[in-house]
Amino acid sequence: MCGIVGYIGKGNVKEILLDSLQRLEYRGYDSAGIALLDTSNKIEIFKKTGRISNLRLDLHSVNSQAKMGIGHTRWATHGGVTNENAHPHFDCGNNIALVHNGIIENYNVLKNLLEKKGHKFNSETDTEILVHLIEDIYKTEKISLEESVIKALNLVQGTYGIALISSYEPNKIICARNGSPLVVGMGQNEMFVASDVNAIIPYTRNVIYLEDKEMVVINEENCNTFNLNYEKIVKPISKVEWDLEAISQNGYETFMLKEIFEQPDAMLNAMRGRVNLPEGAIKFGGLNLTEAETRDISRIIITACGTSWHAALVGEYLIETFAKIPVEVDYASEFRYRNPIIQKNDILLVISQSGETLDTLEALREAKRKGIKVLGITNVVGSTIARECDGGIYLHAGPEIGVASTKAFTNQVIVMIMLAIYLGRLKHMSFYEGQRLLNELNKIPEKVNEVLKQAEKIKAIAKKYQYAKNFLYLGRGFNYPVALEGALKLKEISYIHAEGYPAAEMKHGPIALIDENMPVVFLATTGPLYDKVISNIREVKARNGRIIAIVNQLTDDLSKYTDDVVIVPETFEEFSPLVNVVPLQLLAYYIAREKNLDVDKPRNLAKSVTVE
Ligand code: M6R
Repeated sequence: MCGIVGYIGKGNVKEILLDSLQRLEYRGYDSAGIALLDTSNKIEIFKKTGRISNLRLDLHSVNSQAKMGIGHTRWATHGGVTNENAHPHFDCGNNIALVHNGIIENYNVLKNLLEKKGHKFNSETDTEILVHLIEDIYKTEKISLEESVIKALNLVQGTYGIALISSYEPNKIICARNGSPLVVGMGQNEMFVASDVNAIIPYTRNVIYLEDKEMVVINEENCNTFNLNYEKIVKPISKVEWDLEAISQNGYETFMLKEIFEQPDAMLNAMRGRVNLPEGAIKFGGLNLTEAETRDISRIIITACGTSWHAALVGEYLIETFAKIPVEVDYASEFRYRNPIIQKNDILLVISQSGETLDTLEALREAKRKGIKVLGITNVVGSTIARECDGGIYLHAGPEIGVASTKAFTNQVIVMIMLAIYLGRLKHMSFYEGQRLLNELNKIPEKVNEVLKQAEKIKAIAKKYQYAKNFLYLGRGFNYPVALEGALKLKEISYIHAEGYPAAEMKHGPIALIDENMPVVFLATTGPLYDKVISNIREVKARNGRIIAIVNQLTDDLSKYTDDVVIVPETFEEFSPLVNVVPLQLLAYYIAREKNLDVDKPRNLAKSVTVE
């Protein structure tokens, strides 16, 4: 996820671009850059790693006379966080500058072709391929810049929101989108473009939203939209009614709620380019293990903290089920100090959203000192953990700003599912089984959407239970870690004491706590242990506990013994954590909101814990 902006008009181009970028910083903040086209039609690019404030400092003394420009704030996907990889990117002759949000999936094929034709690349990004491709078409086919852009976009596979300027045709900004949002802002003799209205709302409220596979060409007075056959399209102008503060969270009341609702899209991003349905297989780019090394793995140790540790527990069930490799899960803080027994063909897998959690980082270093390979599953590209691992898998969840992790958890589970299938397919798992699993995995984002549609119902349940002092969360098998995660979410943001347990463990102690004041959340979706969970529900009801159940259908038993139910779509038991955790996130969220608490910045917590 990155943010892009563009401006053409009589205003101070540099300041408008920096100001607009600042409001897109939540979309990514690894590096930022702008390209300015001056009155002599020369383009200059300024870019810098780190926050937009770094770039602003660098540009302080630049007295620009630019008449238009484009800008970008990056959340790295292809290539580390370096000045070279920051956008905008130039073509060979520094005559076209381009910013891009999205992923060009076939960049390798295109890069090979362009290299053979003599193009030289300065970065590791997929984006740079696109600007060279446009240059190549423009020069060899001698067609207009717009037509060259369309031709290039018809050759790329993947997602993009782009903006480009060129000294060849210096009175226009060309933009296009496919999968990554773009909006044009229409001012008085000035035009804006941005990834979302957030960036441009102080300047104009008249906007045109681009749809996928549309291109727009803007100058100071006009904006013309085309489809990718170069046919003109008439677009409606919309008026933005939101105020600035609300849209900095994209209209959501908090970042956490926004991130809960982003989960279906985030899951698709994690799967994009990795799920190969026709072959019933998974493709990973950066594991850095040969197939022989992978087949030789005798044990996987997974370490992590907090929510990431819960994803690790789901991972244990998944890898043992699909790949039949023994798995051990350890808190990173315990692993690093307990002198663990590590054998030659073990590998360590570390899971961390931020990639900066100190306990996890030290566990990684300890394993490396003991001579085994370490793989990382992280969200933040270029983070310390990502850099120090021998290989790994990015979550592609987009920046997670709310302190309570939501979309990172579901993407960690998606990645664990894909890893387990990948390992299984290298060993005994059949093509048909791989296909059967991936077919269902593809349906999960839509199933999560179905759960999100029940937010109002869950809000009503939250209202009912907001005064409880304690909660119990119970689940079995794949849903035991979900019970732990549900309890953690509630503790973190509502400050209510909550415990998660394997449902059958309840009778070994926690049952003593149950009375009419104790809400018990049961994960009771279908699976081999369903009947046993129903027996646990009866045991709680017999002691007057209040039962909230997450179920697939409302049977007679369930209607008799439960106080509240949330019905979620059915899926394979192995994938059910992805669907079942969502009502628990919403329940915690709405309870905290009923209590008027700051869910994005809960007390005493930090987004990434870099101390012991
Ligand atoms: O960035 P990490 O995934 O390494 O963070 C680990 C934990 O600190 C984190 O999951 C924490 O538990 C969250 N606040 C959970 O919502």
